[in-house]
Amino acid sequence: MMANNLNVEYLKDKIINLDSMLSEVRVFAPATVANMICGFDILGFAVEAPGDEVVMRRTTQPGVTIRKITGDDGRLPLDPGKNTVSACVQYLLQALNISSKVGVEIELHKHMPIGSGLGSSAASTVAGLFAINTMLGNPLTKEELLPFCVEGERLACGTGHADNVAPALYGGITLIRGNEPLDVISIPSPKELVAAVVFPQVDVPTRDARQLIKDKVLLKDAVTQWGNIAGLVAALFKEDYDLIARSMKDVLIEPTRAILIPQFYEMKEIALKHGALSFGISGSGPSVVTITRDEKIAEDIADKIQTHLKENEIDSFGYVSRVNVEGPRILDQKFFKA
Ligand code: HSE
Repeated sequence: MMANNLNVEYLKDKIINLDSMLSEVRVFAPATVANMICGFDILGFAVEAPGDEVVMRRTTQPGVTIRKITGDDGRLPLDPGKNTVSACVQYLLQALNISSKVGVEIELHKHMPIGSGLGSSAASTVAGLFAINTMLGNPLTKEELLPFCVEGERLACGTGHADNVAPALYGGITLIRGNEPLDVISIPSPKELVAAVVFPQVDVPTRDARQLIKDKVLLKDAVTQWGNIAGLVAALFKEDYDLIARSMKDVLIEPTRAILIPQFYEMKEIALKHGALSFGISGSGPSVVTITRDEKIAEDIADKIQTHLKENEIDSFGYVSRVNVEGPRILDQKFFKA
């Protein structure tokens, strides 16, 4: 069954040579910080770590199967129809009209928490789709692959927002100018930008965090927010760190979602007091992101935030990373002649 939201007409003339299909690939795809604080559903960037890995092997029997999943504490479905990664790989094989001829088995290795605000489902889906495209000899461009990644987000959390999958797939910073049709713009990443992400170990599913948001906003808040978004995009082009600091502020979503995140305002105070350009929620939370222009400052703030959380009996993970401009990468690939 083909997913309703995919229009695959643009793939009808693709020719796939299955004789040269790879036997195995291992792919890494990065975590992402969606929203970039002020750009709800439209801005995001990829980080260097963490990220998920997919190992995909060709099988003699047609069909897509999940061989194993690690790092998920048993939370993700092994049923290939229900698992987002295998479902999207199957959609792609169907769209290319080769699902009756091709079989693959998938190993998914999760290296980041689920429901963390780090684009966990996006990293897995992008890794899976990048892996199958690599095995088939890259018949699809990244632009052509993106709608399948968005479909993965729809399966994972109910809405097809592209602000995690686009940076995970393209690398760097991306702007979702429009969703129908998808219009994604890559934005330059200022060289000195460093993000410190801290994940307080509480579960906030994206689906729940989205339901909380009001669907009406005050015009004066909207004006503030679009001023900030425009200011941030200009700042990224100009590499203007003061303008980044003035612009990365969220008056629309943060006040509502902050209540789901323990110690949010205390963490914000620590970050801003110790040299952060900005601080806010990563994606739908509970991860929080501190933006700096210095790795040492980022590490120091992450440490201080984690210590504060520990004092409040909340375990956490911390990651410090520059913007990952590469996106997914192939870690290994093999070809055995059948
Ligand atoms: N833009 C999405 C949200 C990202 O904030 O709900 C989810 O990671």
